[in-house]
Amino acid sequence: MEYSEKVMDYFANPRNVGKMEDADGIGEVGNATCGDIMKIYLKIEGDRIIDAKFNTFGCGAAVATSSMATELIIGKTLDEALQITNKAVVDALDGLPAAKHHCSVLAEEAIKAAIEDYRSKS
Ligand code: FES
Repeated sequence: MEYSEKVMDYFANPRNVGKMEDADGIGEVGNATCGDIMKIYLKIEGDRIIDAKFNTFGCGAAVATSSMATELIIGKTLDEALQITNKAVVDALDGLPAAKHHCSVLAEEAIKAAIEDYRSKS
């Protein structure tokens, strides 16, 4: 399977890329097999994610899934964001090759880790 146009677009023009200096929660996860690392930053007001950014040191699919993940969670409550699965991220990108599904799992884990980080601090 080839990459969808959407994956290529989010890889070439990633939305919300970069470090967030005043993040309320940061989630960093990695995959030991491929060595890729993903970091998601959250800005939270009340119970809602008002902004999200990411930094990914990894493959194109990891960049695309983390970028899409930030778009999916902005505006959501923490509980809603916790419901977002890697499959939802893959669907939003019009699919991923099977060999790249673990990249989307990283995106789901990074969201959860960032929310956990925020909750452990507040
Ligand atoms: Fe490991 Fe994509 S190859 S995250």
